[in-house]
Amino acid sequence: MPRSLRKYMLAATAVTGLALAPLAVSHLNDKEVQQSYRQSWFTLVALNFGPMASTVKGEIPWNDDMMKGWANDLATLTTLNIMRGFGEGSDKGTTRAKPEIWQNKADFESKMNDLKTATAALQEATAGGDRKAIAEAVGAAGEACKACHDEYKSKDYLY
Ligand code: HEC
Repeated sequence: MPRSLRKYMLAATAVTGLALAPLAVSHLNDKEVQQSYRQSWFTLVALNFGPMASTVKGEIPWNDDMMKGWANDLATLTTLNIMRGFGEGSDKGTTRAKPEIWQNKADFESKMNDLKTATAALQEATAGGDRKAIAEAVGAAGEACKACHDEYKSKDYLY
């Protein structure tokens, strides 16, 4: 990745309030494969969503092609079966996933589906090119992140 793009992505991530520190270390831990799997996926999700949110807030210049690219990758990511990373017993270790996920699996999955619906709509909006519609779709996707984090993600690592 060219250095300027990297700087730009990191800045976008920082301004959207997403945790930067975990990005500085590898998520790969061979004793916690599922935790690594899901955390790596969330990192990819955040690095595609963060710049879109920054664009809509006017913090970085609007670029239609970049918006389309991020939206396409974000929508593609949500087609993966991320529940593979939330198997039984993987509530332990280096993770911010709350135990409530495993107690309310159906609700958690339904919130994951809401994200999938929102990112598909966002992809469609960027293909259409109407900036107001795109901004609204970014907001709706952000709400889907928040709805789940509020209930199922703790702020600190749980040990
Ligand atoms: C259905 C629930 C859910 C949705 C929807 C969701 N998240 Fe998360 N997110 C989590 C959980 C749970 C974790 C903690 C994972 C762990 O630590 O094992 C997490 C972790 C993260 C992390 C930290 C990853 C790391 O370890 O470095 C980021 C960044 C993140 N989410 C961003 C987002 C963004 C951006 C969206 C929306 C585009 C989103 N999430 C949508 C549940 C969700």
